[in-house]
Amino acid sequence: MFSGKARAYTNIALIKYWGKENQDLIIPMNNSLSLTLDAFYTETCVTFSEDITEDLFYLDHQLQDSKATLKVSRFLDLVRSKADCSLHAVVKSQNFVPTAAGLASSASGLAALAGAASAALNLTLSPEELSRLARRGSGSACRSIYGGFAEWQKGDSDETSYATSIPSDGFENDLSMVFVVVNDAQKDISSRDGMQRTVETSAFYNGWLQTISQDLAKAKKAIANKDFTALGEVTEASALKMHGTTLAATPPFTYWSAESMKAMNLVRHFRESGLPCYFTMDAGPNVKILVERKNEAALLNALKDQFNAQQIVVAHAGPKIEILTEEEA
Ligand code: ADP
Ligand code: DP6
Repeated sequence: MFSGKARAYTNIALIKYWGKENQDLIIPMNNSLSLTLDAFYTETCVTFSEDITEDLFYLDHQLQDSKATLKVSRFLDLVRSKADCSLHAVVKSQNFVPTAAGLASSASGLAALAGAASAALNLTLSPEELSRLARRGSGSACRSIYGGFAEWQKGDSDETSYATSIPSDGFENDLSMVFVVVNDAQKDISSRDGMQRTVETSAFYNGWLQTISQDLAKAKKAIANKDFTALGEVTEASALKMHGTTLAATPPFTYWSAESMKAMNLVRHFRESGLPCYFTMDAGPNVKILVERKNEAALLNALKDQFNAQQIVVAHAGPKIEILTEEEA
């Protein structure tokens, strides 16, 4: 028996990944930039064993159906082939984040799976190699190998597409991300399907791609200068452009709900009233608000009249992936 355990934290993209150049290898159309967060994470234990004849996948203590297990098995095949191992595995994973609700469970989930499976088979991987492996499970997972800010360099091959850490002199610790969870049910259109439909059919997709490099440059400059306003502005603009592409897809779709609109309008209103904050959204209706830590209490106070306490989750910058020992798990 060979076991490995890992804990990986979710990340939220400030400059979004939206679309693949290569679906099998998960090579993206554009670079993306994210902040890893402390509030949401996944813990996964993988045990390869001679005693079982098929892979078993437990998520939050529930044995998963064949479709969910197949996704995990396909990923384990990559690890097995790297380690020249043919054993089946039991995967036990716990999401401390709602699954498939636009709160980035795929990022923490697949990063933790990559970390645990490679540790179990004693693969000694550099952060770049682990990032490449996690990417094969879910694109955004390649950024969750790092704490703080990370950039996924799109590259053009399996070898060249991975994330790296962005030096920031601790700027990430000046920030808070406040989640407004308007709905934590599983979404109808996964990120994977949503981005593919958009690449294939959206009249706005090329427009999205055209502004990526200037948005990335703005975000990196803002991080280097610790310029919250510039980072917030480009974060909000990137999210709006990404969501704009879905409206021009065939068939059109949106991840926004009336409650998402309410939260976004409130953020604009708070800003106009002198509280600097900016929103972002992913493939789901929940809204994430970027605010300076010094203004976090004021934001929470302003939100409390509009949403109930269970809908609000506060996150700060989170750590890199952790490979756990038996005792820590
Ligand atoms: P989200 O917004 O939560 O990232 P996605 O639709 O992008 O939603 O991804 C959800 C998918 O990620 C799940 O259907 C599952 O395939 C995968 N996933 C989530 N958590 C885990 C986990 N802990 N272990 C393995 N796979 C996971
Ligand atoms: C909107 O990484 O979940 O959150 O690579 O198909 O697994 P797959 O997609 P996934 O997509 C994330 C999309 C996003 C933006 C982002 O995280 O950059």
